[in-house]
Amino acid sequence: MAKGFYITTPIYYVNDRPHLGHASTTIWADVQARYRRQRGEKVFFLTGLDEHGLKVQQAAQKRGLSPLAHCDEMAAHFQSLWKALNIQSDDFIRTTEPRHQKAVQAILQKLHDAGQLYRKPYRGWYSQSAEQFVTEKEMVDGKWPSHFGEVVEIEEENWFFRMSAHQDWLRERLRADPRWIRPENRRNHLLALLDQPIEDLCISRPARRLAWGIPLPFDPAYVTYVWFDALVNYISAPGHGEARFEEWWPADCHLIAKDILVPHGIYWPTMLHAAGLEQPRRILAHGWWLMGRDKMSKTLGNVVNPHDYLARFGADAFRYFICRELLLANDTDFTEERFLARFNADLANDLGNLVNRAISMVHRYRGGAVPAAKDGGTPSDEDLARVTTEVRGEYHRDFMPEIEYGRALEAVWRLVARANRYVDENAPWKLAKDPAASARLDGVLARLVETAALLGSLLEPFMPETAAKIAAQLNLSGFPCSDERWRNPVAAGHALGRPVPLFPRVAADRKTAS
Ligand code: MSP
Repeated sequence: MAKGFYITTPIYYVNDRPHLGHASTTIWADVQARYRRQRGEKVFFLTGLDEHGLKVQQAAQKRGLSPLAHCDEMAAHFQSLWKALNIQSDDFIRTTEPRHQKAVQAILQKLHDAGQLYRKPYRGWYSQSAEQFVTEKEMVDGKWPSHFGEVVEIEEENWFFRMSAHQDWLRERLRADPRWIRPENRRNHLLALLDQPIEDLCISRPARRLAWGIPLPFDPAYVTYVWFDALVNYISAPGHGEARFEEWWPADCHLIAKDILVPHGIYWPTMLHAAGLEQPRRILAHGWWLMGRDKMSKTLGNVVNPHDYLARFGADAFRYFICRELLLANDTDFTEERFLARFNADLANDLGNLVNRAISMVHRYRGGAVPAAKDGGTPSDEDLARVTTEVRGEYHRDFMPEIEYGRALEAVWRLVARANRYVDENAPWKLAKDPAASARLDGVLARLVETAALLGSLLEPFMPETAAKIAAQLNLSGFPCSDERWRNPVAAGHALGRPVPLFPRVAADRKTAS
């Protein structure tokens, strides 16, 4: 069976409702999935929820609910946000599902049989909010970083995975494949950690302390430690142990943020290695949204609720902003002013005006019928063609496959700006007054329609609703996105639909509620 493109997001904790951070990684994955589908690839896009662990148990208790009732309610919040954001995932895994529990127990048993697990007493620092043991090396200026929340010292007997036995293999694997963990600064961070001896991984919690988890099949007095449970979702969802697994595994990309780089870059590869499974092809960890100097997080209570922005600006503007502004290698400050500026400048002005002018002028000067492109060859035509070719090349070759969305969109906006300048340089309103310039006007209008169609296809993965509106206004059922057919997307005489503004401007003084 031919392997398809398989992309994942983290499975999110259900201790609270989703915020901008969760929405961001999910949107990034959705954009890649849509891009691949548009290119004709077979795609499996997985997202879901991490439903076990102490925090969920406590959150449910506080609300007087059973853990599962709490999870069901949170799952509905996540799913309704994904729907509002037009997320088209192919599967939504919840770690409380039997299919997942079965896979976790199968892997645990396999590693136990292979002598990869053992039991011993353990004392260490434990972060309740990150649900992981942390080491003093992770302190900053003698303090635990704020996203660890309260850190307490605990001692108990537990099960361990011989992770250290795979350290040399992992270091070599990382060195041999510079593109495996991206971006470069994350890879370097892992390589630096691997220069020191790594410890074995604690993979259990005593069931008396934590009831809400998957029992170890060989020692039911314990449940599986959350990371060992959670990471396995990436193989349980595509059907580990079934024939269809071959169709998807290994994953082409695990998309995460830098907070969970260590579990994905050290625990997961060593777990897979110990279980004799193939490695994911790429792990990509983007930066954080910050609020001022702090990470946006529920623990710090400084989160942005996506619904506030969706209600005001729509899903596409939100998706655009996240892809344009959130960075791969660095953190980004989130501000409403920046959102508004992007909305008004990039979407309402640059893109919205271009498409609107192009379609309106075909109506005004040619009765809505696209003219044949008889003319061309002026310096202005040539420069528009040059920028178009350049942008298409960068977009498809350099940026989209690498999930460099900020740069992909920057390139697309270079084309938008060039096309707006093309309108001003050629002043169709003047050409329309000069009967001798009729062929020239035909050429200019045809180039603008062509550019609008190309922009629709380049923007479709990012802004599917806007792309559909552009298609409807061009009276197309979809975009010719294959490399050969993007020029002259419609035959001469093709009747356009009515122009409707894509992004009505929003005034700065109406504050978004939070
Ligand atoms: N349940 C674990 C992941 C298990 S994956 C096998 C977990 N969940 S989480 O709810 O805390 O989600 C963390 C992820 O949410 C980050 O890696 C990132 O994808 C997203 N974000 C949460 N806050 C974020 C920011 N402030 N900025 C950007 N993305 C962030 O960890």
